[in-house]
Amino acid sequence: DTDPLVLFMPSGKRGRFAVGTPVLEAARQLGVYVESVCGGRATCGRCQISVQEGQFAKHQITSSLDHLSPPGAREARYDEVRGLPAGRRLSCSATILGDLVIDVPQDTVVNAQLVRKSADDRIIQRNPAIRMCYVEVDEPDMEKPLGDLDRLKASLARDWHFDDLAVDTHLLSQVQSILRKGGWKVTAAIHQDPSADRAHLIALYPGLKNEAYGIACDIGSTTIAMHLSSLLSGRTIASAGTPNPQIRFGEDLMSRVSYVMMNPDGRAAMTNAVREALNGLIDRVSADGGIARSDILDSVFVGNPIMHHLFLGIDPTELGGAPFALAVSRAVQARASDLGLAMNDGTRSYLLPCIAGHVGADAAAATLAEGPHRQDDMMLLVDIGTNAEIVLGHSGRIVAASSPTGPAFEGAEISGGQRAAPGAIERVRIDPVTLEPRFRVIGIEPWSDEPGFAEAAETIKVTGICGSGIIEVVAELYLAGILSEDGVIDGTLAGRSPRIVANGRTFSYLLSDGEPRITVTQNDIRAIQLAKAALYAGVKLLMDRQGVATVDRIGLAGAFGTFIDPTYAMVLGLIPDCDLGRVKAVGNAAGTGARMCLLNRDHRREIEALVGRIEKIETALEPSFQQHFVDAMALPNKVDAFPHLSK
Ligand code: FES
Repeated sequence: DTDPLVLFMPSGKRGRFAVGTPVLEAARQLGVYVESVCGGRATCGRCQISVQEGQFAKHQITSSLDHLSPPGAREARYDEVRGLPAGRRLSCSATILGDLVIDVPQDTVVNAQLVRKSADDRIIQRNPAIRMCYVEVDEPDMEKPLGDLDRLKASLARDWHFDDLAVDTHLLSQVQSILRKGGWKVTAAIHQDPSADRAHLIALYPGLKNEAYGIACDIGSTTIAMHLSSLLSGRTIASAGTPNPQIRFGEDLMSRVSYVMMNPDGRAAMTNAVREALNGLIDRVSADGGIARSDILDSVFVGNPIMHHLFLGIDPTELGGAPFALAVSRAVQARASDLGLAMNDGTRSYLLPCIAGHVGADAAAATLAEGPHRQDDMMLLVDIGTNAEIVLGHSGRIVAASSPTGPAFEGAEISGGQRAAPGAIERVRIDPVTLEPRFRVIGIEPWSDEPGFAEAAETIKVTGICGSGIIEVVAELYLAGILSEDGVIDGTLAGRSPRIVANGRTFSYLLSDGEPRITVTQNDIRAIQLAKAALYAGVKLLMDRQGVATVDRIGLAGAFGTFIDPTYAMVLGLIPDCDLGRVKAVGNAAGTGARMCLLNRDHRREIEALVGRIEKIETALEPSFQQHFVDAMALPNKVDAFPHLSK
């Protein structure tokens, strides 16, 4: 075969094409996603590629693409008017003359760093569910009395191969005026997601509309985060977060379910609260991004099952107890306006599938982002909240469960506990000789190294201790010899240090003697032991199911995972033994998974298929859970060794 060989990077897809084939056409045939809004008229500039030298590039770069044909002339005009970056070509106009290695540029998705969330600058290959399609529509003709909308559909079928296009009803009243305003040249926004029945015309703009946006949202029970991205370049334009206003109805998930059960209007009140917060965030990100909210055409949402249900307006009562029945577990496609969100009338919404009644769309999104199914390492993914969502697996098999850790890790049920907010102790060290503590408090300059601890104690009013601080203080008490393996504070040390104080029949550790006094009581330690034992027992069940005694890597998701120190998590026996270098905070992995589904509909299929084959384990029904739980009450564990801790 003597036709030139064309290789597309980074996908690696390749094929032979006749001389003179436009590169965009070659990409289409190979299923390589290259954006195009103007349909090859060399006016939108979205189809840019660059030519790499490579083993297939036998010719000079300039000579293997045609500059002089009519398409080449159009490209030169685009370059003159709009300017093409050095080395870039318009793939609709560049035709193949010889062997080529072509680079499809993927703009880096820059994630503005959310407060207390780790940055994630991964590159997401694009193939959005929304396509912007410019067409020139035939003018009306009395001889052929075909409606304006019908001729528009005919043009879209002719130029873009949308043969069975459905049209959103709200557009019917607008079609004629938009067509005339654009002088019969319009851009159609088409939503095409294979899990929806057919492609839909969802918005229509006069002339060339060379931009479209989407939002990806992680509805956490504590914080709601939103990213605004360009669907055409993949860039994240703005990010914003806000506390979940449902907190006023109940701090943790189960108290929100109780609120619904106890108040006739409770469900509606919480649904409205989350939708209002989302509308507020939509306002903020569109203002920050300098766009109109009506230019947002797609939206993706993730959340745990209860957040997911309340957002959809579904009563979550069934999720409050066994068998934890989800109203809907598969992915949901909806109109954003039906979900009470004000963007464009045609904006679509996509909710990722839930894995199980306790393991939600957020865990599915985190799994998609971290990709245990794409690797051979046995990976443990843990998202710690009131319920820990746990996923363990590799390319061969994935199992998931949730474990009822309770709110102790979030600072609830702990005497001095509070949310991670200014004034909260978040890092603790205890001197094993003097038994004196040093700590770091949220709200002062980020700590650099150890000396930062001492200053914090003096300059900031300490109001409590947050989740990461609790983990550290219990681990440090144990490492300093104050706490036994069974988690009992050693009262005989009371004579050695004024920090050990009698408290009825047990002892407490005085962490801060300011106002308020912050003590760690025996009850606090019990609460942490119960929480960590529940988490570890859940992890062990999954390891049993996989038939492994160790894991190769651990990803700690969510805000809590970002701020706990993996070493302390392991000292406590919260997570199984693992090479500490391979225990990573994976930040807002759920948000990343949502962005992946926003920018590439193939990721929607990927997670839908994956969730279908994830094995769900109901921890409450497993006979060995209780034994694992009892063993895990000890620090770090009664039976399991932690060889990596001694290194
Ligand atoms: Fe619009 Fe190439 S497709 S410039």
